[in-house]
Amino acid sequence: MSKQRILSGVQPTGNLHLGNYLGAIRNWVEAQSQYENFFCVVDLHAITVPHNPATLAQDTYTIAALYLACGIDLQHATIFVQSHISAHSELTWLLNCITPLNWLEDMIQFKEKAVRQGENVNVGLLDYPVLMAADILLYDADKVPVGEDQKQHLELTRDIAVRINHQFGKEENPVLKLPEPMIRKEGARVMSLSDGTKKMSKSDPSELSRINLLDPPDTIAKKIKRSKTDPIRGLTFDDPERPECHNLLTLYMLLSGKTKQEVANECENMGWGQFKPLLTETTIEALKPIQEKYKSVMEDRAYLESVLRSGREKAEEIANQTLHRVKTALGYSMPV
Ligand code: TYM
Repeated sequence: MSKQRILSGVQPTGNLHLGNYLGAIRNWVEAQSQYENFFCVVDLHAITVPHNPATLAQDTYTIAALYLACGIDLQHATIFVQSHISAHSELTWLLNCITPLNWLEDMIQFKEKAVRQGENVNVGLLDYPVLMAADILLYDADKVPVGEDQKQHLELTRDIAVRINHQFGKEENPVLKLPEPMIRKEGARVMSLSDGTKKMSKSDPSELSRINLLDPPDTIAKKIKRSKTDPIRGLTFDDPERPECHNLLTLYMLLSGKTKQEVANECENMGWGQFKPLLTETTIEALKPIQEKYKSVMEDRAYLESVLRSGREKAEEIANQTLHRVKTALGYSMPV
């Protein structure tokens, strides 16, 4: 029996932070041998907010290199760049024409980003989830491993697929496959270091709110030292009055590889003065191998380019087949 297929992606906007790693990439790595995997760098999504053309290509290489540095294995996975495959944009147009506008206006991320951008909201920001649906549906993905914040976009993807199948397919021969979200409980929502009720995010103006995967040890130490805590002694999970405590303990648990019970026992009598150095040390140690591997991958641009070139070839073949299937279902059947 052939393996189920996974597709996921990350935007090349700035550095990756612990939320991206613990909510998404770490889970890709852990599950990769059980699936056929496609991981893209979604550089078309990156221009839905104001971007810098001078750094887009470099940021795209950075993310691809980080995939490898975090442990994505090319034996199991194909890594590619979204803009290299024109089928992503083309399918987006076809999906646009069957997606009701109000579905997009209801998206939480759109509303949040639109508020932040004031007057400067472009059509691409509204259309972001349709492009994401195209990314997923092109590869007939069975599972999509993401953080909690992407759940609504995955529901939309399924709704779009159902709508296409209903309007243009036959029950025994659907046009598109319905993907399932794959969201792990622990790490699905890593919170800001400055406010345990807000998610850790690339767009937070404060650098102190997040730890980036490429932060040097002294920066990590500084960020953890300055992270928000509370005056209570003894550290516990799951206290709704102590969101920062829950978040920092969860980071420690995930980065140390210990179980929740082990961490709960270890930290129940600790104060912050004892815990913060422990979390600092654990974070630095967990990120060290990623940073070392990243450096070596980035030093060999020819290798990275070859990874992305062969990724493109493999991904494009599948994407074009699906695009052809959708176009045929929609009535584009004239010979060219
Ligand atoms: P991006 O780049 O914003 O986020 C990449 C991944 O990181 C997860 N994530 C988090 N997980 C836990 N805690 C956090 N604080 C946190 N912040 C971010 C996101 O859930 C995501 O899994 N729209 C996608 C990119 C995308 C995509 C796709 C994903 C485009 N096409 C197709 C899957 C399939 C996004 O938010 O990227």
